[in-house]
Amino acid sequence: MDLMEGIYSRRSIRQFTDQMVKKDDLKEIIKAGTWAPSGLNNQPWRFVIIQNGEIRYKLATLTHYRTVIENASACIAVFVDRQAMYDERKDHQAMGACIQNMLLAAHSLGLGAVWLGEILKNAEKVRMLLELSEEMDLMAVVALGYPPSKTFSSSRREISEVILKEI
Ligand SMILES: Cc1cc2nc3c(=O)[nH]c(=O)nc-3n(C[C@H](O)[C@H](O)[C@H](O)COP(=O)(O)O)c2cc1C
Repeated sequence: MDLMEGIYSRRSIRQFTDQMVKKDDLKEIIKAGTWAPSGLNNQPWRFVIIQNGEIRYKLATLTHYRTVIENASACIAVFVDRQAMYDERKDHQAMGACIQNMLLAAHSLGLGAVWLGEILKNAEKVRMLLELSEEMDLMAVVALGYPPSKTFSSSRREISEVILKEI
């Protein structure tokens, strides 16, 4: 898939078929995440692959978007490692770049994915469910699966509305 085509055709996918996502694809998506830029190349991202049904159902109870996680074939919980951080703002920017790379990689592999942020209200409960140390700060859960055959629309403001100045 051409990069620009991928950027423009990616959509947040919240409905999935029953088809299982391949572990290799999940690893490829994580690898794409790790190829995001990070300040000082500190690569502060850490990941948990969640396919186990019981854990996924427990995870689902921690967000308003419960059904998205329940219907997904897999989730990847994305954490920033506080020990690896050097600048809060820059490390969080790197995490956003990492998650966006993951969404684009999922799309290019024919998968659907959505960035779940609402679950951050229960970040500590997610960390404890996954039995991780306090250094791991949840940034997002990416829910993944094969998308249904229908198309999903999205919209953006015209760029003329968001360009402040052309000097
Ligand atoms: C930081 C962040 C948090 C988000 N949290 C959620 C969420 O909790 N649940 C959800 O369904 N979508 C969530 N999204 C996806 C947005 O709703 C979606 O990207 C936006 O509506 C634009 O749609 P599109 O991605 O299909 O273009 C989140 C996106 C970002 C960047």
